[in-house]
Amino acid sequence: SSKTFTLNNGVKIPAIGFGTFANERSKGETYQAVLKALEVGYRHLDCAWFYQNEDEVGDALHDFLAKNPSLKREDIFICTKVWNHMHQPEDVKWSFENSCSKLRVDYLDLFLVHWPMASEKNPDNTPKIGPDGKYVLKKELTENPEPTWRAMEELYESGKVRAIGVSNFTIPKLQKLLQFARVKPVVNQVEIHPFFANTELVKFCQKNDILPEAYSPLGSQNQVPTTGETLRENKELNELAKRSGYTLAQLLLGWGVRRGYVVLPKSSTPSRIESNFNVPELSDEEFQGVEEVSKGRNTRFVDMTHVFGYNVWQD
Ligand code: A2P
Repeated sequence: SSKTFTLNNGVKIPAIGFGTFANERSKGETYQAVLKALEVGYRHLDCAWFYQNEDEVGDALHDFLAKNPSLKREDIFICTKVWNHMHQPEDVKWSFENSCSKLRVDYLDLFLVHWPMASEKNPDNTPKIGPDGKYVLKKELTENPEPTWRAMEELYESGKVRAIGVSNFTIPKLQKLLQFARVKPVVNQVEIHPFFANTELVKFCQKNDILPEAYSPLGSQNQVPTTGETLRENKELNELAKRSGYTLAQLLLGWGVRRGYVVLPKSSTPSRIESNFNVPELSDEEFQGVEEVSKGRNTRFVDMTHVFGYNVWQD
């Protein structure tokens, strides 16, 4: 689908973005996946410093553009994110430069604060891990992210990034940010799928002209079936998809786009990369069917609290 949304600063963003995070991916896998994604029509890549594969994304982008001279850098929407240990203003700039050089681009379409948690860094610019095996919190900068956001705003004002936003922000954290922001975030990228519809946050964002972006729209590669059932095994959803003639993934992505936000499917499988891009417009009945399944559920699959040693959801 070549559908787009328009961000609050007028910049257009493709509704389907290709997710590049993967657990235990072998070297070269990201390159192959991104190349395939671009070849089948994705024009939006969702990256992050933390994923440690921006170099492969950059190589795939470079090779794809070299092979397709009718397309240019401007035709691809590229997002990446600043990691927790880089929240100091000068480090935000470092992170931007570092990501751009690996991605082989000289500007970004979107730059996000990855998590609402600031942590310490090592002299070699890696995250500092404490004796307890967890990130070392920078308390003040976590509680007041204004200096971090000012650095994001400066990158925006400089024209090096076309839009700035956040990820994993709760409503209270967004409210706080909106109080001091001179440049409003354009997006909030969070976990959203029928087992974690995140409806209140989605509505709050939309009311405030912040576009939600759904990560793990297919229920996450991290899903642990401690609650009994995985999203992908859900009987109602699978029956609904079958009746509609879609794959389950297409049904889930169609539901997200119809709810009015960007979806970021990830896959390393060529056939899935291709079918996931063909996102159908759901009928009212199909849409309601997914809504029904989502009701009363609240299963978050992605939580870094045990790694960070800090609960970003607490307010
Ligand atoms: P794979 O990469 O092997 O195709 P996340 O939500 O954390 O990004 O993870 C997405 C997960 O969904 C991955 O494990 C991916 O596996 C899987 N996946 C992606 N597309 C499909 C699809 N169309 N059908 C089934 N599984 C899919």
